[in-house]
Amino acid sequence: MMLEGKKIIITGGASGIGRASAVLAANEGADIAVADIDRVAADATAELVRAKGREALVVEMDTSKVADAQRMADEAVAAFGTIDGIVCCAIKQKPAKLEELSEEEWDMVIDIGLKGYFLCAQAAGRVMLERGSGSIVFVSSVGGVQAYNGAGAYSIAKAGNVMLGNLFGVEWGGRGVRANTVLPGQVPTPLTQAMFDDPEIAAGRAAVVPMGRVGQPEEIAEACVFLLSDRASYVNAAMLKVDGGQAESKMMHTPGRKWGGKSMDYEAS
Ligand SMILES: NC(=O)c1ccc[n+]([C@@H]2O[C@H](COP(=O)([O-])OP(=O)(O)OC[C@H]3O[C@@H](n4cnc5c(N)ncnc54)[C@H](O)[C@@H]3O)[C@@H](O)[C@H]2O)c1
Repeated sequence: MMLEGKKIIITGGASGIGRASAVLAANEGADIAVADIDRVAADATAELVRAKGREALVVEMDTSKVADAQRMADEAVAAFGTIDGIVCCAIKQKPAKLEELSEEEWDMVIDIGLKGYFLCAQAAGRVMLERGSGSIVFVSSVGGVQAYNGAGAYSIAKAGNVMLGNLFGVEWGGRGVRANTVLPGQVPTPLTQAMFDDPEIAAGRAAVVPMGRVGQPEEIAEACVFLLSDRASYVNAAMLKVDGGQAESKMMHTPGRKWGGKSMDYEAS
C-alpha cells in the first residue's frame, strides 16, 4: 500500500476531488482527517474512510480562518499523533467577468482558495517540519495556467496555488517536507455539475480535451496519493497536470464554441 500508516489531512474532503482523495488514500492505508465547512458531508466522507478499515476524524472548519487552520492541525495531532501530509482542496467559486466582479466575490474566492491553502499548509506543515518529513499537495487547476473568460478570481487563486507549491517546496524541501501542485482539467463534481447537466455544453467541454472526455475525481485523486506517497520522494515544487492534455490544446479558445452555460456565465474567448 502506498500510504500505509500515514496520517493525512484533506481540506475540502467532504466533496468531489477531496472526497475521492480521502477514499483512495484510505484504501492505500492512511488515516484521514476530513477538514471541511460542511459537517454533514464531511461525516459521510469519514464513513467511507472507516469502511476501508481506517480511522477518520472530522474537523468542521473554515479554511480561510487562521484559528481554524491551527485547530485543524492540533486536532489531527491529538487524534493521530502526527501529520504526514495534507491535500488542500477547499474552494468556493464565483464565475464573473472582471468588470462585474465585486470586492466581496473576490475576497470570498481568494480567502478560501488561496489564503486558506496557505494557512492550512502552514499549520500542518509546521508539524511535518518538526519531524523532518511530510508532503503537501495543493489542488490547483489548469485554469491557474490558462486564462479563460469569466473565471473571476478563481484563476488568480489557482495561479497562486502553483506558486505556493513552488515556494513551500523551495523553502521546506531541504528540511524533508515536499510540496507540489496538481492541476486538474474538467471534472464533474458538485462544483461543476450544473455545466455537465446540459448535454450540449457537456459535449463542448469534452471536445476541448485532446483525449475527448472530461476526467473523474478518482483520476485526480490518483495524482494526489502519488504525491503524498514516498514513491514521489524526489518530486518537489512540481506541477502535475491531470487534464487529458487540455492545457496544451488551443481548442479551448475556439471562438463560438459553446463552453460556458448557466452556472458559468462566459463563452469561449
Ligand atoms: N471540478 C473541477 O472540474 C475542477 C477542475 C480543476 C480544479 N479543481 C479544484 O479541485 C478542488 C476541489 O474541487 P471540487 O470540484 O471537488 O469541488 P467541490 O465543490 O465538490 O468541493 C469543495 C469542498 O470545499 C468545501 N469548502 C468550501 N469552502 C470551504 C471553507 N471555507 N472551509 C472549508 N471547506 C470549504 C466544500 O464544503 C466542499 O466540500 C478545488 O480546489 C478546485 O479548484 C476542480
